[in-house]
Amino acid sequence: MSVLAIDAGTTGVTAVVVSPDGRIVAKGYEEFRQHFPQPGWVEHAPEEIWQATIEATRDVLKQVDAEELTALGITNQRETVVLWDRETLGSPRRAIVWQDRRTADICSRMREEGHEERVTELTGLRLDPYFSGTKLAWIAEHEPHTWTHVESGRYAVGTVDSYLIARMTRGVQHVTDVSNACRTLLFDLAAGDWSDELCGLFGVPRDALPDLVPNWGEVATTDPKSFCGLSLPIAGIAGDQQSALFGQTCFDVGDSKCTYGTGSFILTNTGSELQRSDAGLLSTAAWRSPDGDLTYALEGAIFVTGAAVQWLRDGLQIVGSAAETAAIASTVDSSEGVVFVPALTGLGAPHWDPHARGLIIGLTRGTTRAHIVRATLEAIAFEVRDVLETMPGLSSLRVDGGAAANDLLCQVQADQVGVPVERPEIVETTALGAAFLAGLGTGTWSSTDELRDTWSLDRRFEPGGDRADHDAAHARWLEAVRRSGGWATL
Ligand code: G3P
Repeated sequence: MSVLAIDAGTTGVTAVVVSPDGRIVAKGYEEFRQHFPQPGWVEHAPEEIWQATIEATRDVLKQVDAEELTALGITNQRETVVLWDRETLGSPRRAIVWQDRRTADICSRMREEGHEERVTELTGLRLDPYFSGTKLAWIAEHEPHTWTHVESGRYAVGTVDSYLIARMTRGVQHVTDVSNACRTLLFDLAAGDWSDELCGLFGVPRDALPDLVPNWGEVATTDPKSFCGLSLPIAGIAGDQQSALFGQTCFDVGDSKCTYGTGSFILTNTGSELQRSDAGLLSTAAWRSPDGDLTYALEGAIFVTGAAVQWLRDGLQIVGSAAETAAIASTVDSSEGVVFVPALTGLGAPHWDPHARGLIIGLTRGTTRAHIVRATLEAIAFEVRDVLETMPGLSSLRVDGGAAANDLLCQVQADQVGVPVERPEIVETTALGAAFLAGLGTGTWSSTDELRDTWSLDRRFEPGGDRADHDAAHARWLEAVRRSGGWATL
């Protein structure tokens, strides 16, 4: 009765097996390559995502009996656009990743043409390169030959969930769910369906897009020849942040979570009400039940948090692994005025500046890597505080994701936001959420109440230290953010 979940994230694919008592009993992980063809561009090879999915799954299958598995849940990095040939399943070009900034000019142009208000009204989003719509418009504009095949119906368009499902079903299914669809700029959030008006505006043929299915319930069966010998019902699908909201069992209005992944994403469940923010938050779909009930959320999307740590490791090469950052940062009492604004792919919520770029300021001859590492962890906490200041009334913050294991980060986070930070025993909530969805869709769990009972607290970090000091550090951060603004236009 265990459930397999695949979390196809931005830097790698995780496969987990979740037992009926809500524990992760096996785990596999495989990183895939990041391609940076030009400054500000980020691409993934779809085939490499697929191979990483197979490797992570094979890994997990070495740890459990495949006969025990009853369903598969899929969760994924959102907004990233993938094109594939419906016959061969090969991709004509690399995927353009959510972090990619190449469409900043298209966004400015559309804004100047007066489209932003209507786009926001329909989608709950904004004209920012983050979302899929302008990435597709860019392909149409710059790669007309490829686009001809999209228009003729030969190539399918989708997000990573749809692509993986197509690969797992040998191209039989082309589906997605509302939590992914609503991030494309092509989805009418209030109507809960693709929008002809938006498809027209961005020049995307509606027929190229996947069909919408509920977030739980059986939608297809994996083809054993394609997918590690497994014939499993695909019964749960969700974009990774909505999946983490589900995995944290944030089922009631007002329940919120913050996931530290490549970026950090704070979501608050707003129930059946589509709420709008004028402070830089996005309105988004959380999930749709098989009965058709749509749950919404408000979201603060921060683009670079864990990716900043990855950059310390791979770009600067001043740490060997993310895990050692807490120990390195703890060798100094403070960052001694060093501030790192990790606007490596522009800034998301609440600042929204696609032209901002990263900045490290306050360096002196006494600065060491420990100060820079500490400034990186502090930056994550500052970014989350900036978002939470637009979401008043939060009495505690549930955190998850890889960096939630970092005690120093959780403490700095609590100090900065001034409310307790609660870390559950399972921090891999994204994959857990996908397993919950698939298990709910196939009878491993019968209700969300049953799922809620599986949540348990690992540790609660109470805010401490001197509030005035924390605020002063945050004010310095805001000044550094201001200075990073618009850099790419200079
Ligand atoms: O919106 C982007 C988000 O879905 C990526 O999540 O976990 O890969 O940082 P993650």
